[in-house]
Amino acid sequence: MINIGLLGCGTVGGGVVKLLAKNQEIIAKKTGAEIMIKKVLERDQQKCLQIGIDHSMIVSRVEDIIDDDAIDIVVELIGGIEPAYSFITAAMNKGKHVVTANKDLIAIKGKELFDTAQANNVDFYFEASVAGGIPIIYPLKQSLAGNHIEEVIGILNGTTNYILTKMSQEGRDYNEVLYEAQALGYAESDPTADVGGLDAARKIAILSSIAFNSRVTLDDVYVEGITAITPRDIQYARELGYVVKLLAIAKEVDGKIQARVHPAFIPFNHPLAFVNDVFNAVFVRGDAVGEIMHYGRGAGEMPTASAVLGDIIEVGRNMAYHTSARIGCTCYEEKVILTISELNAQYYIRMTVTDRPGVLAGIAGVFGNNDVSIASVLQKTSRENMAELILITHTVKEKDLQDSLTVLKGMSIVGEINNVVRLEG
Ligand code: HSE
Repeated sequence: MINIGLLGCGTVGGGVVKLLAKNQEIIAKKTGAEIMIKKVLERDQQKCLQIGIDHSMIVSRVEDIIDDDAIDIVVELIGGIEPAYSFITAAMNKGKHVVTANKDLIAIKGKELFDTAQANNVDFYFEASVAGGIPIIYPLKQSLAGNHIEEVIGILNGTTNYILTKMSQEGRDYNEVLYEAQALGYAESDPTADVGGLDAARKIAILSSIAFNSRVTLDDVYVEGITAITPRDIQYARELGYVVKLLAIAKEVDGKIQARVHPAFIPFNHPLAFVNDVFNAVFVRGDAVGEIMHYGRGAGEMPTASAVLGDIIEVGRNMAYHTSARIGCTCYEEKVILTISELNAQYYIRMTVTDRPGVLAGIAGVFGNNDVSIASVLQKTSRENMAELILITHTVKEKDLQDSLTVLKGMSIVGEINNVVRLEG
C-alpha cells in the first residue's frame, strides 16, 4: 500500500481524487501496489467533502501530513511559492517523495528543490507543471535523452491561444474576445499572467533547463504578451502567409541559451500553426529524432490529473524496486543565457508614415544605416496624407532593429510605429 498526503483540494486535487477512484484497479496493477489518499490538507473543508473525501481525512496543519510516517508521497497542488516551497522541503527532509504541478515554484526554485530531493534520496516529479496533460518533461528526460536538443518551441498557454484563434477566425479585437473567454470560464478573472506571457515563461524556463541541461529560471526568459496584437496585424500576417501565435521558444545557439516568450508570425504550414483554441503543443527538434510535436490539453481538471497520476505511479514503481531518486536534476552544465538584443530574427513592422515623395527612401536609409536589410515592403492604406507601411526584414540582429526604430520614432515623417512582431520557423 502506498499512502499519499494531498496538499490542496482544488480543481486538480479533485481530479486526482476522482481519477484514483475511477481507475483504482488498473492503477494498482500497473504500480504493483494499491495507492490510497490518506490525508488531505485543505482550509476549505467543503471542497474536499464535495469530492467524496471523508471528513476524518481532512487536516488543517501540514505537520499532520509531514510527521505521518505512513505517508510515502506528498502531492503538492496548492500552487504559488509559499507555503508550497516550505511544505515540499519539509516533506523531502522527512524522506517523502514529492509530486507537484507547481510551475511558479519550479521556474524559480528548481535548483533548491532538486538539491533537497537529492540530499534525501527521494523522487521529485513535476510533469503536470508544464502543458497540463501533455507528456513532455519525462519524454525530454528519458525518451529523448540520447539527443542533443536544439530547440523547444511551445504553445504553452491555452488562454492566449484561444484569444488569438478567435481573433484570427472571427476578425474580432483582443478585448472583446478576452471578455468572452472570461465569461466562458476559459480565462481567469485576472488574466494578467496569461495574456502578459508570464505563465508561458515559467513553463519554458522549466523546459529549457531540462532540454539544455543548464539551469534557466524565470528571470532568464524574455517576456512579451499578446495585448498589442490587433486584428489588423493578424490580417496582414494572413496575407503574407503567416499565423500569429504566442510562442515560448528555447534554443541552443552556439552553446548559449535563448529563452523567450512573445507573439510570433509562423508560416501557415508550420505544425504549430494548426494548434488552435485552448490546446497546447510542444515542438522539439533533436539531432537524432528530428522534429516531433506533442499536442493536447494544457490545463483542466482531468488532463492535469492525468499527468499527476502518471508521476505518482512512477514514484510507486520506484518504491517497489527500491530505485528512488533515479532521475534527478539534469542541469550538469552552466550555459550562458543570451539577451533579447542578441537575437537574430526576421521582423514584421507596421508603421504609419507621411505619404509623400522621398519618405520611403528616408525610412529605408535608416534601416540601411543600422544594418537592417528589408525583405519586402507593402503600402497598405493612405488617408489624410498618411500611409500604413508593412515591412518584413531579412534576418537581422534585434539590437540593430531596435536602434533603427529609435531613430525612426524621432523623425517627423514617422507618425507611429504601430507594431513589431518577430517571425519564427
Ligand atoms: N492558465 C493557463 C492557460 C493554464 O491558460 O493555459 C495553467 O497554466
